[in-house]
Amino acid sequence: MGTVILGIESSCDDTSAAVIRDRRLLSNVIAGQEVHRKYGGVVPELASRAHQQNIVPVVDHALKEAGVSLEEVDAVAYTRGPGLLGSLLVGSSFTKGFTAALGIPMIEINHLQAHIMVHFIQSEKTPGPSPSFPFLCLLVSGGHTQLVMVSDHHNMEIIGRTIDDAAGEAFDKCAKLLGLPYPGGPHVDRLAREGDPLRFTYSRPRLEGFDYSFSGLKTSFLYMLRDNLKEDPDFIEQNKADLAASLQKTIIDILLNKLRRAAKKTGVHQIALAGGVSANSGLRKAMEEEAQKRNWELFIPPLSFTTDNAAMIAITGYYQYLEGNFSSDEATPLARMYF
Ligand code: KG4
Ligand code: ZN
Repeated sequence: MGTVILGIESSCDDTSAAVIRDRRLLSNVIAGQEVHRKYGGVVPELASRAHQQNIVPVVDHALKEAGVSLEEVDAVAYTRGPGLLGSLLVGSSFTKGFTAALGIPMIEINHLQAHIMVHFIQSEKTPGPSPSFPFLCLLVSGGHTQLVMVSDHHNMEIIGRTIDDAAGEAFDKCAKLLGLPYPGGPHVDRLAREGDPLRFTYSRPRLEGFDYSFSGLKTSFLYMLRDNLKEDPDFIEQNKADLAASLQKTIIDILLNKLRRAAKKTGVHQIALAGGVSANSGLRKAMEEEAQKRNWELFIPPLSFTTDNAAMIAITGYYQYLEGNFSSDEATPLARMYF
């Protein structure tokens, strides 16, 4: 009765397993890793160890919650890359053992394509229609910032990308300068709601085409803080909300500027958002306003599908399964993986 796919995600610091039957999501279990917080960033060695501890209970939990027995699983989809090698190895090794024991196929998934594919999951959180093809997706995560033209469930073309830092990195690195915990993006988001977004201005990139750059913003933010702290040691504490709001506005302006241009140049008016940074409330609101103004049909994922999760791996695996795109058990994880 339908195709049951178990999805496994372990590319960074979240261990996740999800089960879908056809496009319907039955479970999506995510174990985060608190251990990195005190280091102000993900420590790869600790991440792979935590994945080792989490993976079996997380998969067990996902299967139980879905009410699916081992015999019902048709295939396992896992993240082959991009990501941290030691972390990816845990998910891929688990998948190899699990599929070999059950005699079922394994399917390798590109983590970035999977972020985009959340728009095809059916669940009570996604009651609306999925986008039709082609659509343009702004993919913004901790490691990547890309504008992707999606032609169908398998064919996607990157038409713009960051040449240095990702949008999530800009949030996290600037948040660290403000003394906020890692990852800083959600903290900046919360603070920004109380602040004045026009109070401070930071440098904006001037790049041709649809490519992004965020390293100049980070430097400009750092210098501005340093100059002001010389005059007033309490500068950050006194102005935290305004600093956060102005930073967030700048990042959103940079993101929307290229998206607007890409939509105009390509004539595509179905626009989707994906990746961890798409949880940002300011970005979601700005996208809605922009869509109204420009007559875009907008697709914004529910919050639980924005940051890393295995539901996105399972849905991508489902479409690969339909095509018979199975992976060899000799496939090794890839820290960098292109599509
Ligand atoms: O997609 P994701 O979970 O992991 C990667 O594949 O990178 O994205 C994580 C990124 C982090 O940089 C985090 O700070 C950012 O998403 N993020 C946010 C928010 N929630 C997560 N950034 C801004 N506002 C948020 N609410
Ligand atoms: Zn991700």
